[in-house]
Amino acid sequence: MTPEIDEAREAALSAIGHADTVADLERVVAEHLGKRGALAGLKKGLGAIDDADARRAAGAAMHASRTALEEAIEARRGELGGVETELRIAEEQLDLTEFRSDGSRGHLHIVTQAWQRLEDVFLGLGFSVAEGPEVETDWHNFEALNMGEGHPARGEFDTLFVDHVPPGGRLGTTLLRTHTSPVQIRTMLTQEPPIYVVAPGRVFRRDTPDATHMPVFHQIEGLVVDRGISMTDLAGTIEAFTKAFFGAGFTSRLRPSYFPFTEPSAEFDIQRPDGSWLELGGCGMVHPAVIRAGGLDPDEWSGFAFGFGIDRMAVMRHGVADIRDMYVNDIRFIEQF
Ligand code: DAH
Repeated sequence: MTPEIDEAREAALSAIGHADTVADLERVVAEHLGKRGALAGLKKGLGAIDDADARRAAGAAMHASRTALEEAIEARRGELGGVETELRIAEEQLDLTEFRSDGSRGHLHIVTQAWQRLEDVFLGLGFSVAEGPEVETDWHNFEALNMGEGHPARGEFDTLFVDHVPPGGRLGTTLLRTHTSPVQIRTMLTQEPPIYVVAPGRVFRRDTPDATHMPVFHQIEGLVVDRGISMTDLAGTIEAFTKAFFGAGFTSRLRPSYFPFTEPSAEFDIQRPDGSWLELGGCGMVHPAVIRAGGLDPDEWSGFAFGFGIDRMAVMRHGVADIRDMYVNDIRFIEQF
């Protein structure tokens, strides 16, 4: 009977080796080692072997086969179990390193793009970039810009005050800058003329957000202080900027206006190639009181200044209908640009 036992063992070993899941293996075990398996059938026949030696030999072969098969099953179960655990871990793993292989890797926000292009154009015109703090004193933001306490123009800036009492000062004199103009003062106080700077930055006003207003927005300020600067230098600079930034088909004009920190003051508009005019910002000759607040002698130095909104540039360039869309971080909006 030994050859039949060997045959049954080999068949079972082969099936065990071919089982490729734990469930498959259990099925093989039931089939080959269960009550209806070949080995079970042979075992029943052991008692019927008359020859004692042959019976003993067959019994030993049966025992050895069972032992060998049980070892093989354990080994295979270990292998398959390990593989399955790995597979399950792999399947359940969260991939936190998502990357895109389609070449789109994100880009700068459209306001940042406008900001950087503006800087580039002014750097090309010979300006350098200046900076100032976002939390300002009311002296830099108003007083030094010829808007003393009680000046009606202060009311036009819906100022956000900071809950801070400066040493020796009082509450209500620390604020979030309402415009980039205080950088004019800080620059004059720290740099020797000639001064040719632009100061892009974040500004704040107590405004309820709507399609054209945000309480936080961006401006770029320009300041030139040199000897013998006149209104024509201002007009020429605005015109050179307009052509460099918008294109050769655009032109600019100044319209008389009023700002406390410039005299005379103007608003500047640009004309699009289709002939339509668009109001861009304010400008003027720096008021002598402002030059003086900057620590300079207005009889020796004169200059011009201008300021306008950066967000509007991005809105115009990309045809954004609602300025709030630029600040809600909706990927469907951001991805368009
Ligand atoms: N600071 C003004 C504002 O926020 C804009 C402005 C007007 C800036 C005239 C200037 C200027 O430098 O000369 O409305």
